[in-house]
Amino acid sequence: MKIALTGVNGRVGRKIAGGALKDGHSVVGIDYADPNPEHEPHENFTFIKADLQDYQAALNAFKGCEAIIALAALPNPGDYLVATHNTNAVVSWNVLRAAAELGITRVAQASSVNVLGGYYNEKVHFDYFPVDEEHPCRPDEPYGLSKQIMELQADAITRRYKFMRVASLRLHWFIDPSWIDRVYNMPQEEAHKHLWGYTFESAGIRAFLLAVTAGDFTGHERFFVIAPKIGSRIKTSELIGEFFPNAEIKKELAHDEAAINSSKAERFFGWRHDDDDHGGTEAAPAAAAAKTEEVVAAPAEKTEEVKAVEEQADKPEEQVNGHAGHVEAEETVESALPEKVEEEAVVVPHETVHANGSAAVEPEAVADNLIDEKDIVVIDVEPIGHSACACCEESIVHAVSVEPEAIAAN
Ligand SMILES: NC(=O)c1ccc[n+]([C@@H]2O[C@H](COP(=O)([O-])OP(=O)(O)OC[C@H]3O[C@@H](n4cnc5c(N)ncnc54)[C@H](O)[C@@H]3O)[C@@H](O)[C@H]2O)c1
Repeated sequence: MKIALTGVNGRVGRKIAGGALKDGHSVVGIDYADPNPEHEPHENFTFIKADLQDYQAALNAFKGCEAIIALAALPNPGDYLVATHNTNAVVSWNVLRAAAELGITRVAQASSVNVLGGYYNEKVHFDYFPVDEEHPCRPDEPYGLSKQIMELQADAITRRYKFMRVASLRLHWFIDPSWIDRVYNMPQEEAHKHLWGYTFESAGIRAFLLAVTAGDFTGHERFFVIAPKIGSRIKTSELIGEFFPNAEIKKELAHDEAAINSSKAERFFGWRHDDDDHGGTEAAPAAAAAKTEEVVAAPAEKTEEVKAVEEQADKPEEQVNGHAGHVEAEETVESALPEKVEEEAVVVPHETVHANGSAAVEPEAVADNLIDEKDIVVIDVEPIGHSACACCEESIVHAVSVEPEAIAAN
């Protein structure tokens, strides 16, 4: 299947692109940011640079595609003013309306558990447990609201364009299994707001692909795609009793059973967040620009607000105000570095720079395809970006500048 994938350069998009290519699909990756030049090209991958706030750009980008996986968005409330709401509500409508115009029948769009009114809300309220897709949504902030609007847009579009099928996938915190300790260690005053959940990357990848390839439902449907267990050492029933004593208990929950029920996705398109998802994702790295088409001359000038949101963008969705672990360097440094330096730098997470100026590269850098194995050389380095870790103030080095001759010589 030829799948258009919006937000392909993002944290989730890179993984889903890899999974789709691995499953034999062709991917048209769309983003308003340039792809990471370090990523390997793939013959079934095309990159289109487009700002999806522009409807015509969306139409051009999706032409010839059979399905859309829509991820492009600002993934947190930012400064709680207007950027997230206004960007997301426009992008999601443009994607859906362009799909209708082009006769694209299948769309899976990234909603969020925050549509309920969760992590970013001042206060949370749940009527009953386990929470399911019938539960009322009560966001009080622009991000969750933009997801609620996106879901309403899908209701409207499928009401009129009956050939379309739209799945809104309500992801939880999209993590690699190696991050699970962060879920367990999140302070309760934060964790209770999103009901102690998470979605492993491999499970999220499968959910998006199944949502456009499997099952035979019609119209628009909402689905939670969340792990069946909570990330807490305390029993689910005890946590609910403590934080939501007035909620109706519709079904007694076993020891660590999730407080949010995702069984609808299994009934509709055969998805389950299996236990073996704990083994991690085998998704190939997101492909990069095999062929780059410039759909719009340049992305729209970013406002200060958008920049503020983007600085937070790659932190886990639920951790913008939180501190549950090291902020991944690869994902924060690009916005932190001045443009010129960025061009010259190989960005390496949690790089160790020794006193003698040599660098040891951690294996995750290769696994994440941030750098190619052949580029791993011990060379003279000049640290160009230090910062304190968001959680523990420990000083971490974000990037090193690498002499191109050193790599060539190797
Ligand atoms: N990461 C999570 O834990 C999580 C959890 C729940 C839901 N989600 C949702 O999943 C989606 C992807 O999240 P992510 O964590 O990968 O975010 P991200 O910020 O890493 O990626 C979003 C991508 O969308 C692109 N984008 C933004 N506005 C655009 C526009 N106008 N035109 C074209 N491209 C644009 C950005 O350049 C970026 O590459 C989002 O919709 C987010 O709300 C993420």
